[in-house]
Amino acid sequence: MRVLITGGAGFIGSHLADLLRAEDHQVRLLDALLPAAHGGAPPTYLDGFELVRGDLRDRAVLHRALAGVDVVFHQAAMVGLESGMADMPDYVAHNDLGTAELLAALARQDVGRLVLAGSMVVYGEGRYSCAEHGVVRPGPRTAEDLERGVFDPRCPRCGGLLDPGTVPEDAPPDPRNAYAATKLAQEHLAAVWARRTGGSAVSLRYHNVYGPRMPRDTPYAGVASIFRSALARGAAPRVFEDGAQRRDFVHVRDVARANAAAARNARPGFAAYNVCSGRPRTIGDMARALAGAAGGPEPVTTGQYRLGDVRHVVADPSRAAAELGFTAEVGFEEGMAEFGTAALR
Ligand code: UD1
Repeated sequence: MRVLITGGAGFIGSHLADLLRAEDHQVRLLDALLPAAHGGAPPTYLDGFELVRGDLRDRAVLHRALAGVDVVFHQAAMVGLESGMADMPDYVAHNDLGTAELLAALARQDVGRLVLAGSMVVYGEGRYSCAEHGVVRPGPRTAEDLERGVFDPRCPRCGGLLDPGTVPEDAPPDPRNAYAATKLAQEHLAAVWARRTGGSAVSLRYHNVYGPRMPRDTPYAGVASIFRSALARGAAPRVFEDGAQRRDFVHVRDVARANAAAARNARPGFAAYNVCSGRPRTIGDMARALAGAAGGPEPVTTGQYRLGDVRHVVADPSRAAAELGFTAEVGFEEGMAEFGTAALR
């Protein structure tokens, strides 16, 4: 295949580039190399790759990048949690206008296969059930409960505490921040493109991705990067709530494999898949594993909370296994042991 990876200089894009090159595909990267993400110069791990440097929203750049391409892996995005309302236009400009420009260019240049970097943030909270009322959708947790150390969400009908389950892809979307809203809109735009053109669009809803080349701690970073960066400075990871909140940590090399599997199994139309390990762990587990690998210091559980945080998000990996033939291979202990000492960017 001749492939284009947008955001190809980034954390996930660059691992995907390595994998596809090793599988003998012709790989081209498109990346704006934004100073905020890369410090301006192409990272050395890109040596030997064809790189088109520019912004996705620039039609001339896109035209060059798409020439002769069979499949596009769209990884370029502004990520993380917004710091306030002020950066909402930037999220929309990069993630939705950027995707719309890409889709229009795919139609112009007759490229029919697209794999998108989706996100589990489109679900909001994970799935919960109440002993009495079955599957329910809890509202945001209250400051009063969090203050008292009641971290699990409550049943909207009886107020009882809920049991967490795994989220399937057809769970109702509930984007709770600008990033999540743009990731959901991106899926809808891609679905329109697939319907109109007969193309294939696959959204891979990544869970908590970690691994080598993960960007250092920034205001937009997720917890794996924050803990890893703290340990690199010799500081203890600070675990919020009681540390029992659950996530699914999926290794970046598995995420690259999921992308390759999605391109191999492309079917006309739009489909979304959870990309996760299927073996959820707690934030406390992750902090201990990383601290162990890095040689300390031991994590501190602070009881602090962030009002916008969701409690548990863990997903059902069975659709990706059945339809894409993807299952994660890197185990939690092995992956965290590597990440605990791997270079950050
Ligand atoms: C994160 C990303 C989200 C991304 C998703 C999947 C952020 C803010 N969120 O969601 O954009 O799509 O992963 O990759 O980047 N915590 C601590 N100590 C800290 C920081 C966080 O204990 O120093 C806890 C939080 O309270 C929370 C959990 O770790 O319970 C996860 O936090 P975080 O990684 O920020 O957000 P996710 O909801 O997992």
